[in-house]
Amino acid sequence: GAPVEVDISKIEPGQLLRVEWRGKPVWVVSRPQSVLDNLDAIGDKLRDPNSEEPQQPDYSTNQYRSIKPELFVAVGICTHLGCSPTYLPGSFSEQVQGVEYGFFCPCHGSKFDMAGRVFQGVPAPLNLVVPPYHFVDDTTILVG
Ligand code: FES
Repeated sequence: GAPVEVDISKIEPGQLLRVEWRGKPVWVVSRPQSVLDNLDAIGDKLRDPNSEEPQQPDYSTNQYRSIKPELFVAVGICTHLGCSPTYLPGSFSEQVQGVEYGFFCPCHGSKFDMAGRVFQGVPAPLNLVVPPYHFVDDTTILVG
């Protein structure tokens, strides 16, 4: 499939843009500073906090799992059996202390943090996949 261009000039903090790439949903999420500050604190609740599992692009293994910290790009497909998780800002605070944002898979209850890292104790075995992408300029990314 052809690469997909995403205009990020109008994305608001906290907003998720959804595009399609090779028939898959790809998310582009603008992460506010408060979310970035939280990514460190929950490492002990995650299965693979440093994304050490193989087959991830280099830029998905840093703390943010992204090229630019404020912009998270991921394939929006659960690594369990392929449902598409729901973006639920604010909904995790009661379930997982200290986590205010994340992704929830309605099929079997897997949870991922705002870097797409899977929580312990859920069916999904791996962090969300980060697709190949790069910045064309400050307001445009190319996925694929
Ligand atoms: Fe997401 Fe099973 S497909 S938890």
